Amino acid sequence: MLVPLPPLLLLLLVAAVASTPAPAAGDGGAGALPVINPISCLCNSTSVRRTYQPGSAFATNLADLSRALPRNASASGFSAGAFGAAAPGTAYGLVLCRGDFTGTTCASCLEAGFRYAEQNCFSSSDVAVYYDQCQLRFSDKDFLAGGGNAPESAATNMNNVSHGNVAAFDALVAQLVAAVADKASNASRRYATGQAGFPPQKMNVYALAQCTPDLTTAQCRGCLAGIIREMPSWFTGRIGGRILGVRCDIRYEDTVFMATGADMVKLTPLVNSSK
Ligand SMILES: *[C@@H]1O[C@H](CO)[C@@H](O)[C@H](O)[C@H]1NC(C)=O
Ligand SMILES: *[C@@H]1O[C@H](CO)[C@@H](O)[C@H](O)[C@H]1NC(C)=O
Ligand SMILES: *[C@@H]1O[C@H](CO)[C@@H](O)[C@H](O)[C@H]1NC(C)=O
Ligand SMILES: *[C@@H]1O[C@H](CO)[C@@H](O)[C@H](O)[C@H]1NC(C)=O
Repeated sequence: MLVPLPPLLLLLLVAAVASTPAPAAGDGGAGALPVINPISCLCNSTSVRRTYQPGSAFATNLADLSRALPRNASASGFSAGAFGAAAPGTAYGLVLCRGDFTGTTCASCLEAGFRYAEQNCFSSSDVAVYYDQCQLRFSDKDFLAGGGNAPESAATNMNNVSHGNVAAFDALVAQLVAAVADKASNASRRYATGQAGFPPQKMNVYALAQCTPDLTTAQCRGCLAGIIREMPSWFTGRIGGRILGVRCDIRYEDTVFMATGADMVKLTPLVNSSK
C-alpha cells in the first residue's frame, strides 16, 4: 500500500526539541492568529508543481477543507476527506495531531498550518506541513485512497553519542522504536510512546510512533516498517531524530518531548541522566 518514497528532505536541527517555535499545549487560542514556522513545509517538491487560480472551484473547496478538517480534528486528533463532489476541483485533505496534543490546541495548530501554507506556498495545489504537534496535507489529486506516506520529511539532532557507543546506542534505539511501533500499530489510536535507559553514556532515550487512526493494524505496521527501514541512513549515532510522513511518524530524543504515562513501552530501566 505504500507508494515509492520520494527523497527525504534532511533538516539539521541544532536542538530538535527546543528549536521549533511550535505552539506548546496551552498557548493556542487567545484570539490572535499566529503564523508559526513549521519543521518543514513541502509544497515545491512535486516534479511538476501545480497551482490553482483564485476563485476556482478548487480554491473554494480548499477553503472549505481548511475550515472543516481542523474543527473535526479537535474531536479525535484526525480528520480526512474530499471536498467538492466532481473532479476537477475536488480538494483532498488529511490532518493529524500528535497523540498527546488534543482538543482546541490541536485545531489551533492545524489552523496555523493552513495559514502558513496560504502565505508561503503561492497557490500550490499540493502541500504538506509538518509541526511537532500537528501536520496536514492537501492536494488536488486523491492521495487518500492509496494510503501512501509521501511526502516524508526527516530531521536529526546534530549531536552524536560518543564514537565507541554508536553501535550499542543505534541497536537500543532500533529496538525501542520497533517496540513502540509495534504497540502503536495495535493501539486503537495508533499512537504509542516508550523509553529506555542507556547506561554506557548515562542517558535515556524517549520515542514515539504514530499512524493515522484510519489505517488498519497491518497498514500501520507496514507504514512504520517503511520509515524504520530509512532510519540507518539518517540516524547513525545521532542522539535524536524523526521521520515524518502523511500517514505515519517516528521520533526519538534524549529528552522527554511528549506526554509520559504508565502505558509507555519500558525497555530498559532509566538511568540518572543529567538532562
Ligand atoms: C516555494 O518556492 C518558492 C519559489 O522558489 C519560494 O519562494 C517559497 O519560499 C517556497 N516555499 C516553501 C514553503 O518552501
Ligand atoms: C466532520 O465531522 C462531522 C460530524 O461528526 C461529520 O459529519 C463529517 O463527515 C466530518 N467531516 C470530515 C471531512 O471528516
Ligand atoms: C555527528 O556525526 C556526523 C556524521 O559523522 C557529523 O557529520 C556531525 O558533524 C557530528 N555532529 C557533531 C555535533 O559533532
Ligand atoms: C493487539 O490488541 C489486541 C486487542 O487489544 C490484543 O488481543 C492482542 O494481544 C494485541 N497484540 C499484540 C501483538 O500486542
